[in-house]
Amino acid sequence: MQVTMIGAGYVGLTTGTCLANLGHTVRCYDINAARIVRLERLDLPIYEPGLEEAMRRAVADRRLSFSSQLNESVAEADAVFIAVGTPSGPDGGIDLSHVLAAAKQIAPHLKRGALVVVKSTVVVGTARRVREIIARERGAFDVRVASNPEFLREGSAMADFMDPDRIVLGADDTRSRNVLRSIYRSFEKKGVPMVVTTTGNAELIKYSANAFLALKIGFINDVADLCEKTGGDIAEVTRGIGLDPRIGEAFLSPGPGFGGSCFPKDTRAFAATGREYGAPQKLVETLIARNDQRKTALARRILKEGQLQPGAAVAVLGLAFKANTDDVREAAALTIIPALQKAGLRVTAHDPKAIGNARQFVQDVTWADCPYKACAGASAVVILTEWDEYRQLNFGRLARTLSGDAVFDYRNLFEPRAVTQHGLRYFSLGRAAAAVAQRAGVAAIDTWDRRVAAPGHA
Ligand code: UDX
Ligand code: UDX
Repeated sequence: MQVTMIGAGYVGLTTGTCLANLGHTVRCYDINAARIVRLERLDLPIYEPGLEEAMRRAVADRRLSFSSQLNESVAEADAVFIAVGTPSGPDGGIDLSHVLAAAKQIAPHLKRGALVVVKSTVVVGTARRVREIIARERGAFDVRVASNPEFLREGSAMADFMDPDRIVLGADDTRSRNVLRSIYRSFEKKGVPMVVTTTGNAELIKYSANAFLALKIGFINDVADLCEKTGGDIAEVTRGIGLDPRIGEAFLSPGPGFGGSCFPKDTRAFAATGREYGAPQKLVETLIARNDQRKTALARRILKEGQLQPGAAVAVLGLAFKANTDDVREAAALTIIPALQKAGLRVTAHDPKAIGNARQFVQDVTWADCPYKACAGASAVVILTEWDEYRQLNFGRLARTLSGDAVFDYRNLFEPRAVTQHGLRYFSLGRAAAAVAQRAGVAAIDTWDRRVAAPGHA
């Protein structure tokens, strides 16, 4: 099938490349001509593991090409995916202007009977609006519109595409449904569940899925706070609840508040839709506020527990909103770094991939090309992203490099003792010092029991 992607961003490029490697002939169009020039040289504008190799393969097989000419991109296509961005609007709702503009732009170039597929994350009713716009522009209802939300996580988007839990196909007529099914035929044959439904339901599924996952994270972050106050250990609590299949272990890692291009924006849009339709989404409204507060509260904790004086330096390790991506959109670092600076601290920072993007959002930071250089002379170090590179940190070396002794691990990467044995003070999430002491206490009682039980003990 001839497929065109409108928008060569994270979602458009990943989806386009994977569809090409499934055997379709794909063209990626982008309004940004400079981006297309780079892509033609296979110079990727984003970092996504596995994407570059898959793209090279698809281009070599002549299944994938790039264009900044809308007419030639769209004219022959059987299916045209709209995968442009949907940023947050001023009231928390989403700004559909890119999606609607793309619909208007492609309308005159589409062939009769083509299927337009809305891939971008959009509020319920958008596919219908797109259909109306296209019909108005063409003066006929000879093009159909479907909805096919994505569930790709940045950093594992290629694997998520090739090994999905389910594929959601939203169509309001049989022919569109059949075209969508034939695009994803190979997955259906492999037994991947296909949720074939209306466009409206598909749109609701996408937002409900992201809101629910974000609620899991927000909930576990609150439980982590409770663990800290009560001497609990979040790792043991999450394992204890996660083994119940009704709850599940995934998405229960405490962190510095969720970020990224989706959860913050999609929860806001979900709440705004609830307000608009008179079906308030109070849980999600609260979640949004709690998540914002968390980032600020964790910045305050660094000042307080680190006992940092104005002028002191803090090393921030991790700028991306999560590991394996260069994306910093709504990352905790973008709230925490300015809050530290406002308190008079100097910030040095490292990230294996995201410094280039972070530079656009935070100023007056000293950038370091290795974590130890970032820590040199710093009074405290703060870990915000769970990069594998940070899991390998040598705390003996770090203790010698830092001028202070405070380690804030907001991703719970380490066993407390691995850090504290080097004379460092360790602050993580949901693992109260009391819990650590309690474990040490249990070990001491066990040793005593063994000694008492040993033969010859008087
Ligand atoms: C996607 C989705 O489409 C969005 O709805 C979802 O919530 C997150 O993922 P993403 O791929 O991350 O967005 O967007 P981005 O990386 O910003 O790429 C969008 C691309 O579309 C850009 O390259 C932009 O130049 C292009 N674009 C935008 C067009 O080609 N035409 C337009 O009219 C507008
Ligand atoms: C998300 C959805 O997972 C994906 O299905 C959707 O299509 C796009 O939005 P993404 O934003 O790439 O994907 O990242 P994700 O892995 O979901 O993480 C989002 C944020 O939540 C990150 O800041 C991450 O660090 C945080 N998170 C995730 C936690 O704090 N704890 C967890 O247990 C999981």
